[in-house]
Amino acid sequence: MKKKYQKIGIGIDVGGSGIKGAPVSLKTGKFIDERLRIPTPENSTPAEIAQIIKEISESFDLPSEIPVGVSFPAPIVNGVVPMIANLSQEWKDVRINELLTKVLKRPVTVINDADAAGYAEVHFGAAHGHNGTIIVLTLGTGIGSALVRNGVLLPNSELGHVLMPNGLVAEKWASSGVFEREELSYEEWAQRLEEIFRYYELLFSPDLFIVGGGISKKYKKYVPLIDTRAQIVPAELRNSAGIVGAALLAYQESEK
Ligand code: BGC
Repeated sequence: MKKKYQKIGIGIDVGGSGIKGAPVSLKTGKFIDERLRIPTPENSTPAEIAQIIKEISESFDLPSEIPVGVSFPAPIVNGVVPMIANLSQEWKDVRINELLTKVLKRPVTVINDADAAGYAEVHFGAAHGHNGTIIVLTLGTGIGSALVRNGVLLPNSELGHVLMPNGLVAEKWASSGVFEREELSYEEWAQRLEEIFRYYELLFSPDLFIVGGGISKKYKKYVPLIDTRAQIVPAELRNSAGIVGAALLAYQESEK
């Protein structure tokens, strides 16, 4: 690999409404080119999404040995998608690592989107240098979670699917998608989030919550309204955490 390409990974974040990618410097955690976003097609099947990921990864004009990290909105267990909530059900049981490696013809690593965000926050953001238990939550079409203990990630925690004591599934009741769809006020939404965060506190006794996802830009409007024992801070990388975390992981995998 040429020297000038060292320590670069392409990160691509697959979301319910957009698929976004950028090349990332893994020295700084910053984008080195403009981010490209393509809206998620209604027909979000493996074939459709794989083509978009390929298009984004090729758009930066980087050599094919630069690794691609994909942050995906489902658990990823040994390269396979065991279940999926917010994209086509055709993804269930797909060997996503294999599929994307074949379509992209580049080294590819796939990671759950919230885990990617958590990984980026540990290396470059709000969780950097923090010990203890940290829960990173991404608020978007669903609720994603990353559980971090002393800087180490426990992948695929899927806390958005937790059944709350009130009988409701956390992400179906309080994702930012629900906030928009039901036209909740920030106060109403914060109350729901508080119930969820407090339930997570009961289960995991975290020392810190980090809130990410698109709506983390507006955290001042709802985070101060949520009362929990642990402090809540916004993701420092905001909505780019998924891209950065996936790029970093892909780069590290390619170095092995
Ligand atoms: C998925 C998670 C994902 C989260 C946020 C949930 O529905 O099951 O894997 O992290 O949405 O996208």
